Order: sequence, then structure tokens, then C-alpha cells
Amino acid sequence: MTFFYSAALTLCGLVALQHIYQHVFATHPKKKVPGPPGRWLIGNIFDFVPDRIHEYFSDCHKQYGPFVRYKLGSMYLYAIADPSLVRNIVHEQRKNFTLSRKFQCTFGHFFPNCLICVEGDKWKLGRRVVHSAITRMRAYKWLPEVTSSMRLRVDPFLEKAAREQFAAGDAEVVEGFVDLRDMSVNIENALGFGLFEAFLRFGYGVDASVTDESTRIRLYNNTKTIAEALNVRSFQPSKLFWYLPTAFNRRVSRAHAEIMHFVRGIVSSRMAEISADIGCARDNLVDQMILASMEEKMETGDVEDNLGMLLFAAFDTTTATLSTCLQLISRHPHAQTELRNQFTAWKQGGADVESLQVDVPYLDWCIKESQRLYPVAFAFGRTSTVPVTVDGYEIPAESSFTFQTKVMGSNAKEWNFTDEVEDPMQFRPERWADESMRSRVVANYVFNPFGAGGRMCPGMKLAQSELRMVAATILTKFVLKPSEYHDMDFKVTLTLGPRDGAWFKVKAVDK
Ligand code: HEM
Repeated sequence: MTFFYSAALTLCGLVALQHIYQHVFATHPKKKVPGPPGRWLIGNIFDFVPDRIHEYFSDCHKQYGPFVRYKLGSMYLYAIADPSLVRNIVHEQRKNFTLSRKFQCTFGHFFPNCLICVEGDKWKLGRRVVHSAITRMRAYKWLPEVTSSMRLRVDPFLEKAAREQFAAGDAEVVEGFVDLRDMSVNIENALGFGLFEAFLRFGYGVDASVTDESTRIRLYNNTKTIAEALNVRSFQPSKLFWYLPTAFNRRVSRAHAEIMHFVRGIVSSRMAEISADIGCARDNLVDQMILASMEEKMETGDVEDNLGMLLFAAFDTTTATLSTCLQLISRHPHAQTELRNQFTAWKQGGADVESLQVDVPYLDWCIKESQRLYPVAFAFGRTSTVPVTVDGYEIPAESSFTFQTKVMGSNAKEWNFTDEVEDPMQFRPERWADESMRSRVVANYVFNPFGAGGRMCPGMKLAQSELRMVAATILTKFVLKPSEYHDMDFKVTLTLGPRDGAWFKVKAVDK
């Protein structure tokens, strides 16, 4: 206990010293970008609280405009909600910026050589390897795994809920049933585990013949622990907190060690087999990355770090996006009816995976509309490597910039919404029917749920196909209704996702 208190006191002392040093010696811009006044020494640090952070950004943009400066201890953070400035930084001035250093530092603790954490030639090499492994055609080939995983993991929950709903009689349920809670079902975990298992199969070639279910559940829980650590740690003012001997830090270290042990095991056995016979390489992510890395001479440690990072990056964001999208659809019956009509036509046309996007455009609009309103990556960032000029302001090297995807998604001016008639916060998939609007918001950096510029998400096509496929798998079989006991509420840290899972009342679709 004495050790713990001394460590905590030393830590606080070091953090305070670091802040005082940087406050006195750091160089700051002459003409200041507007922003909220902060307290002496700590600046706006106490306003950056999890769960309120997105609202705080939004309020400040309303008050100070699209370019806002915050002081976080000794550092400055510049928030941008002007698409032309996003474009200026991620495109025209890209050579003067790296990915957000804070983000790289948090990820780097776990996967120091992964794509997210490296720059320059090493990043270009990683990007080529990941791109050649995840192609659009391969993504289509992988999708049946996603469907079968959903049928296995999500359907039983929905079927049970639909049976109970049916037994209670739908009409009476709304009026006076004693405990509606029994009727609704939370499918978030099943969605997450289903997507994770599918990714294990098509990405890592791991299925029931390779691991048992308890091993897969353990791996899933480990990746969730890493996701939680990334979220928590992005709000901690110093790396020193990561090394305190707390129960959480110990759990995180254990989870990381187990994930890397799993990844290293797969990489070494597949590398040995592929080196002996190149023809035995399969069409999954691991084998394709090994092949690409052999060709490009990527180090084994880098392949392992990338695969470790992807294990987490590839399902957490997709699960949160799906949970939000399905909840919005459940709250808008007209959207669900429209979807069902288009699904019927799609199935009659001899449904195949590739035609889903073309034949059911309304599904794409629903997904885009939910990403406009509640993007899981509600902001993404860059750090300046040299002094830069942005919007006429001189800003020193090593300054952090955050691009406000969520704020830009509801900015009436950028989307040409007329405020008097249209509420920008309203879920209205029909907005996306306007093709010129669709291309304008993407080309002009207004709509960036997958980031923007050269560092834009390389998993976007795969994620979009998965989102479509899972939503179609569920909505062709079930009618989703919102649960009266669970409001749509969000947990916001590094990412934005449902606070309380994805709760639904369910009915089977009439045949
Ligand atoms: C709905 C799902 C997803 C969302 C919303 C999402 C969003 C993002 C965002 C906002 C970024 C930062 C981009 C930037 O800074 O400009 C990013 C980066 C990244 N994403 Fe995704 N992502 C998703 C799914 C995936 C999937 C399925 C994969 C892989 C299979 C993936 C792999 C990555 C990687 C490797 C990076 C780092 C790229 C780099 O630094 O060059 N993501 N993602």
C-alpha cells in the first residue's frame, strides 16, 4: 500500500513538473486561434471529460467558430470543423503532418510496428501489404462467413425474443404488459462476437477445427479489454498511469500477452508452411499478408503487430456502427418498411452478395445517415511535424489537430439543409438519394466517417460490405422495434458507441 501511495505521489509530482516546464518554455503562436479560456496551468483539461467530450466540442464550435484552440496542460489542441481546412491539412499540407501522436502513442504501447504507429517508408510498405491482402473481391468472398456467423450467434437471440413477443401478443405488449424488459433483447455482444468469429475465420483461418469455443471467447474478451484500455488511456494525461500496478493495468497486460501469443503462433506456423510450399497459401488475411510481406520484405515482427492491431481494429468499430444503425432503423418504421420492400425485390432478382449494394440502395443510405449522425470515429487527428500556417494562423511544430467528423455531419450549411424546414439531427436516409449531394460531401471532406487523405481507413470497403451484409441478414428475417426501457444513449471516449448495448423488441417478418 505504502508503495502504491509513493508511486502515485511521485507520478503526480512528475506530471506537475512536466506541465510547469512546458508552460514556461514552450513556444506558442503569436496570433491566437479563438477558444475557451482555461484555468491557470491546467487550461481546459477538466472540460475534456469522457461522455461529454463530443458535446463540448460541438458547443465550442458554435461559440468560437470552426477553428478552435484548447489548452490541455502544457499542450495545445486545435479542433477543426471546416471541411476546407481538413482538406488543407490532410491533402495539401500532408507532408507537414503525421497521424495524431497521442493516438500513435496509445496504440504503440501494444502494437509499436503496426500501420497506425509508423510513418514514412515503413508506413508506405505496411499500407501496400494491407491493401494487397484486403481487396474488394476478397471482401466479397469473405462475406458468407459473416452471414453464417450472424445466423449462429445473433439469430437465436432474435428468434427467442420474437417467440416471446408473439406469445404476449404484440398489441397488448405496448399497452399494459407487466415487464417489457423480459421482451427486449440486447444483441450487441452477439453482434460483436459474431463479427469477431467471422473475422477469425476469413482473416486468420481459425475455426472450430483449430480452436475451441472457450478459446475464441477468451480472445474476444481480450480484444475488448485492449479496446477499453485504448479508450481509457486516451484520456490519461501521462503514460506513467499505464504502468501503475492496478488490477486494470494487469488485466490489460495479460490480455495483450495472450493476443500476441495467439498471433505469433499462427504467423510462425503459416510462415513455415508457406515458405516450404508457396502454393499452400490460402485466401485469408494472414496468408495473404505473409505472401505480400515476403515479396515486399517486411519483417516478421511488423507482420505480427499489424495482425494484432487488425484483430481489434476490424471488428470493434464495425460492431458499434451496426448497433447504432440498427437502433436508428428500429426507431424509424418507415425506413424499415422501405428497406423490406427493397429486400423483397433484391431476393426475387436472385440475391447475390455483390448486387446488395446496387439493388438495395436504401440500406446504404441508412448506414451513411447513421454514420453522419453518430460516427463511431467522431473525430480523427494529425500532429504537425514542423511549424505550419493554418487558416492564416501560425502554429508551432508538434501541435495536435482533431477533425470533428460528428460536428461536420450536422452542420446545416455544409449539407445545404434549411434549418427552418429540416432538423439536421433527424435520421432521414432519403437525403442520400440526391447523387450530387453524395459526391459533393465526400469530395469536399464534409463526410469523413472513415477519416480522410492518405491515412484514410484501408478497411473501409470490407467494413461497408460487412455492415450491409449483417444488416440485410437480420432485417430480412426480423422486424426490430425499440425497447421502451432502453434509450439510445452513447458512451464517448476515444470512440462513440452505444452506452447500453443494442436493445430491441423483435417480431419475425411475415412470410
Ligand atoms: C465501420 C467500421 C470502421 C470505421 C468507422 C473505421 C474508421 C477509421 C478511421 C476514422 C480511421 C482513421 C483514418 C484517418 O486518420 O484518416 C481508421 C484507420 C484505420 N482503420 Fe478503420 N474503420 C473501420 C473498420 C476497419 C476495418 C474493418 C479494418 C481492417 C480490416 C480497419 C483498419 C484500419 C487501419 C489499419 C487504420 C490505420 C490506417 C493508417 O494509419 O494508415 N478499419 N479507421
